[in-house]
Amino acid sequence: MFHNDTRDWWHHAAIYQVYPRSFADANGDGVGDLAGIRAKLGYLHQLGINAIWFSPWYPSPMADAGYDVADYRDIDPSFGTLEEAELLIAEAHERDIRIIIDIVPNHCSDAHAWFQRALAEGPGSPARDLFWFRAGRGEHGELPPNDWNSIFNGPAWTRVPDGEWYLHLFAPEQPDLNWENPLVRAEFEDILRFWFDRGIDGIRIDSAALCVKDPTLADFDPSAPPTPHPFEDRDAIHDIYRSWRVIADSYDAPRALIGEVLLADIDRFALYLRPDEMHAAFNFHFLGCPWDAKSLRHCVDATLASHAPVGAPSSWVLANHDVTRTVTRYGRTDTGFEHALRQARHLMPTDAALGLRRARAAALLTLALPGSVYVYQGEELGLPDVERLPDDTRQDPIYHRSGGTDPGRDGCRVPLPWSSSGTSHGFSPSGAAPAWLPQPDWAHLTVEAQQADPGSMLRLYQAALAIRGNESGLGDGPMTWLDTPEAVVAFTRPGGFTCVVNLSTEPVDLPPHTEVLLTSIDLTDGRLPADASAWLRTA
Ligand code: NOJ
Repeated sequence: MFHNDTRDWWHHAAIYQVYPRSFADANGDGVGDLAGIRAKLGYLHQLGINAIWFSPWYPSPMADAGYDVADYRDIDPSFGTLEEAELLIAEAHERDIRIIIDIVPNHCSDAHAWFQRALAEGPGSPARDLFWFRAGRGEHGELPPNDWNSIFNGPAWTRVPDGEWYLHLFAPEQPDLNWENPLVRAEFEDILRFWFDRGIDGIRIDSAALCVKDPTLADFDPSAPPTPHPFEDRDAIHDIYRSWRVIADSYDAPRALIGEVLLADIDRFALYLRPDEMHAAFNFHFLGCPWDAKSLRHCVDATLASHAPVGAPSSWVLANHDVTRTVTRYGRTDTGFEHALRQARHLMPTDAALGLRRARAAALLTLALPGSVYVYQGEELGLPDVERLPDDTRQDPIYHRSGGTDPGRDGCRVPLPWSSSGTSHGFSPSGAAPAWLPQPDWAHLTVEAQQADPGSMLRLYQAALAIRGNESGLGDGPMTWLDTPEAVVAFTRPGGFTCVVNLSTEPVDLPPHTEVLLTSIDLTDGRLPADASAWLRTA
């Protein structure tokens, strides 16, 4: 039986990421909303997922699609109201679906009351100490206080009219909070309680390794950063998550902390998962891994080895709202993902049929590995990245701050296609405003079309999630590699379950089995074709 009713559900759960702007639009303004999500809870239940992670739903000027939060205790009016969020939480719970919300601690919005007060109260005020305000360098303070660059291009500093500068590791509309200030700590602890008290089951922690800065704000060479890094993964950061863990554990049903910890060093990454810190973190090594048997096996081994000592469940992620969609990247010659290479790989030739075939095989691999798994909305439909968006529709600050040279992340954020009726393939009701990002012709990819097609990606995900929910050996627990040819990945799970993935170019024999439970494409004369997976009963 599936373990969603257990207190440690995050060890096993299939977690679906909803990007609220692009999921479903009920009020017809071309932007997704909570009413749209509530109307689709039946869809998510039928899909077979155990939890939903919502990208930010708070009031926001949307300078970074909601990751610029103006008020952490309310809902953006374009999405709905706090009352609707409470209804959504309750309705999801009735369907045995947990709720995870996004908490953004590194920065807020420049529209946040704290930042507005800091601007109004001026240099030296206590309000300024909630952020990183500094005088500039140069004769008249006309140069930024140091040489740090924004992760979204350009300097990490913006000057305000009174001459001071403030730090923003992302867009200028996202001022970094000063976690040295106890008021910042107290505020976030209160925000956690606010949402936990409303029945939230867990939080996803945005940019979790960046909150603590070197207070000297010293210059550094980004190609050879010092250790410790001036703003990444500094030891003091762990105190923040320890205090959050105490709060999460104080609830009768403990709340889960899930980190977006983007670190190349897997051992440093694992420190965030110690028993008194976060419960889980996204596996970005897996997300970036190329479609290659050796690399995948190595990534799985490294993941399990790093999580085991801290007793945390592994997680498996193929995509999210920041990266190229799986179908598109797996159809390229170069099948990995790296933020630094997004621009270089943009519009590289991609074989859509091959990408889809591999994405289907990868879905079965991912859903069979030990631990929890994330499905980004639209992955269950096999949506491609929309690489050719009209420039004037692009909203990602990465696109704008790079002067249009980096396409940014809008291509994976295009609203979902639901049906043949309604505006934007049913994303909005009939007669509604166009979707905030235009869809290509996705008539063949709508939920309606795929529901009617037994060979669709949607039906594969539904079937796989149903099996996953009923197999006692799936979710967290042991796995054992099978001895296979180099380009084949195969492993067993307890209870007589085998997953086999053929990454070679030729069909291969299936390992011994008593029943074929599911395949990503039809077998050929009983053999597993190239770029395909099978789930087998072995006892
Ligand atoms: C990580 C989020 O996933 C991304 O979408 C956002 O732009 C940055 N953090 C800044 O909040």
